[in-house]
Amino acid sequence: MKFLITGGAGFIGGNYCHIMPDKYPNDTFVCLDALTYAGNMETLADVLTKPNFKFIKGDIRDKNFIFELFAKEKFDIVINFAAESHVDRSIEDPGIFLESNIIGVQVLMDACRKYGIKRFHQVSTDEVYGDLPLDRPDLLFKEDTPLHTSSPYSASKASADLLVMSYHRTFHLPVTISRCSNNYGPYQFPEKLIPLMIQKAQRKEALPVYGNGANVRDWLHVYDHCIAIDLIVRSGKDGEVYNIGGHNERSNLQVVKTILKTVGASEDLITYVKDRPGHDRRYAMDPTKIETELGWKPVYNFDTGIIQTIKWNLENKEWLDHVESGEYTKWMERYAK
Ligand SMILES: NC(=O)c1ccc[n+]([C@@H]2O[C@H](COP(=O)([O-])OP(=O)(O)OC[C@H]3O[C@@H](n4cnc5c(N)ncnc54)[C@H](O)[C@@H]3O)[C@@H](O)[C@H]2O)c1
Repeated sequence: MKFLITGGAGFIGGNYCHIMPDKYPNDTFVCLDALTYAGNMETLADVLTKPNFKFIKGDIRDKNFIFELFAKEKFDIVINFAAESHVDRSIEDPGIFLESNIIGVQVLMDACRKYGIKRFHQVSTDEVYGDLPLDRPDLLFKEDTPLHTSSPYSASKASADLLVMSYHRTFHLPVTISRCSNNYGPYQFPEKLIPLMIQKAQRKEALPVYGNGANVRDWLHVYDHCIAIDLIVRSGKDGEVYNIGGHNERSNLQVVKTILKTVGASEDLITYVKDRPGHDRRYAMDPTKIETELGWKPVYNFDTGIIQTIKWNLENKEWLDHVESGEYTKWMERYAK
């Protein structure tokens, strides 16, 4: 089968591209990415040599380009990882979030309708469900929890989910959606909580924590997310939503303290900063459906996953330094001549 992986130069799509070409040598993987600030070809350096993988630079909003690509490549499966993904940036400037996260999805699905595919999979997020109170640990998001968003980012992702379902109902497009909790692991851009804190902890710089640090996230290692998506794409049912989460709830403060302890830095580095506007209090997923229907089970828990991730960040200084210096954006100039 031939796969189109959009957003494959980003964090989660990049991890997916690392795993799948080896796991499925008879399948072909075409990675499409616009290489925004979050797209990093250095993430894909090892994968580019694989015979069943190729990279194409392009934007999912560009209808002519996308239609030509579909006509030429004849994809069987489309997995859409491409998105603007940082909540703080969506508060600064929502426009691009609506364009890439909603219009981009429409363009991809229109191409799927025109050229025919076996499955369009939309990678969504737990943030579409809004948040849960901190004092009700019994409450979890289920697939039928109403959508109730807080930020322009989550509103754009929820809009895309509704659009995907409408294409299934109206045009019978074979679609699935996965909604996953917060990811962490290798190749995460250091604007996100965990890699940012690891970097600051090892440099003994102040670690900025929003509000009082009590906000709770349900953390899942990116490897387990990729395996879950693979299961859904190959065995999930058309028109279904699957929640993905590993029951690893931690407050932001707990996460930061774990990082400081593992890196050997002092908790005195924690600095409380003004809270994010509209900051969601708690996310927590109920993954019963994917566990019982598709047999998915995460291999990492937070304690094992965070050690692996800290180790990766400490051992891959060059990748991180190039992100920080902007060197990673010059990859195309250096190698793609
Ligand atoms: N990171 C998380 O914790 C998390 C959790 C649940 C769901 N998600 C979802 O998973 C997906 C991937 O997230 P991520 O953390 O890897 O994001 P990321 O920001 O690291 O990567 C996104 C990638 O998409 C590309 N991209 C952006 N706009 C594009 C466009 N118009 N055309 C083509 N490519 C474009 C970027 O260049 C980048 O490589 C997103 O849809 C996000 O909403 C993320």
